[in-house]
Amino acid sequence: MNFFQNLALKYSHTMMQKALNNNLKVELLKEPQAKIAKEKSYMLYAHIPFCHTFCPYCSFHKYYYDENLAKNYFESLREELKIIKNKGFDFNAMYVGGGTTLIDEEELLKTLELCKKLFNIKEISCESDPNHIDPKKLSMFKGLIDRLSCGIQSFDDETLKKVARYHKFGSSEVLQEKISKALGILPIFSIDLIFNLPTQSKEQLLNDLRIAKKLSPQQITTYPLMKSNLTKDNIAKSLGVSFKDNEFEFYQIICEFFKDYTQNNAWSFSLEKNKLNDEYVSSHHEYLGVGSGAFSFLDGELLINAFNLNTYTTLIKEKQNANIAKAHFSQKERLKYVFLTEIFSGSIELTHFNHTLKCDLEKELFIELKALKICGAIYKEGDILRASKFGKYLFMVLMKDFYTGMDLVRAVFRDDARLKNKDFIDIMREDVDPLNAQNMEFKA
Ligand SMILES: C[S@@+](CC[C@H](N)C(=O)[O-])C[C@H]1O[C@@H](n2cnc3c(N)ncnc32)[C@H](O)[C@@H]1O
Ligand code: SF4
Repeated sequence: MNFFQNLALKYSHTMMQKALNNNLKVELLKEPQAKIAKEKSYMLYAHIPFCHTFCPYCSFHKYYYDENLAKNYFESLREELKIIKNKGFDFNAMYVGGGTTLIDEEELLKTLELCKKLFNIKEISCESDPNHIDPKKLSMFKGLIDRLSCGIQSFDDETLKKVARYHKFGSSEVLQEKISKALGILPIFSIDLIFNLPTQSKEQLLNDLRIAKKLSPQQITTYPLMKSNLTKDNIAKSLGVSFKDNEFEFYQIICEFFKDYTQNNAWSFSLEKNKLNDEYVSSHHEYLGVGSGAFSFLDGELLINAFNLNTYTTLIKEKQNANIAKAHFSQKERLKYVFLTEIFSGSIELTHFNHTLKCDLEKELFIELKALKICGAIYKEGDILRASKFGKYLFMVLMKDFYTGMDLVRAVFRDDARLKNKDFIDIMREDVDPLNAQNMEFKA
């Protein structure tokens, strides 16, 4: 990275944090806001907030698994799907995220079957931990799940022990065996790895990559470790602290290692070009989220579903939408957001982008695009804006920042009871970096 690229990286990172802290104005709703369907097809996101174990680096919205709690939750989820069907929504693709989406296979099966019946869904992606990829169970989902990603994180036994996954999900050897058996049942099987873990050496990284490649799944995703104020202490306690940040160097190694693969987006590589994208935000401009803690992005608004399971199920029982808060994006913020999510996958077709968003991207983000061109992050080829090698890294960092920023929102909404008794800003001060809390604006 040259001096200008370094500067561009630091500047973009700061701008992204400012945008998340200053511009994200979250408004608590007195009653749920109706979701209005336009005549188009959206992406459907469903959240399954249950895990058998809580990993120290993970800030996704989740509860410890309890069979009855999960069964009741899935029932509410199916009710919410019927509610949005009645509102006239249709979807062409679905992403089920968690938590651990395959945690109760029978309930998930019923839910996916209902989705296919209600909507014109052509492709479904799901996530699992390594304890739910048994071939017999996976076979239940033939013809339903098109892509399954399985969290492995690392094939290094010591790392697995430190994050408490060794005893829960198996040693490196056991994980490799489980993956080998799971391959070939569903069309796309993907392995999730995390890189730039504290104290991870270059050799450990290469070992993870070699094993993943040898297993030959259709897809390999390498997430950079994302640290927020919610997780940084747990990460330090379990994995230690690194004084050197290897993210850029390791990212170059990863891209070089998978140069014979197709890069789906800045952190995902495929054996063959496939149109299924694991980042639902980058493949669809608008999406609707169902389930506790799910986000929807519709018409320039981010709608946030109730996190607390009781609040969520009560709202659904009353046949209501389950959103309890929203944040509005101005046209420019919306364009920046969609631009990032699209360029993250490597390129943007300008005519298509302008047509679907009814905008002139090059005019409306003139300064931003100019700066990105000057620092060599993007270049134009005919009608297409492409991310350069440096650009891919830059956009990966910005996407990481975006996800980390969403942690701030999750931190506030995780506990509805506290929301009722306190100012948002106080909760932010208790839970989150005080600097961020002061900057983030909340309106009740
Ligand atoms: C929502 S999790 C679901 C996976 C599944 N529950 C499991 O643990 O195997 C999806 C993936 O996000 C990635 N992930 C979670 N927290 C992360 C973090 N802090 N930094 C980078 N990647 C993370 C992990 O690779 C994880 O497998
Ligand atoms: S990584 Fe997976 S199992 Fe671990 S806490 Fe996150 S969602 Fe749950």
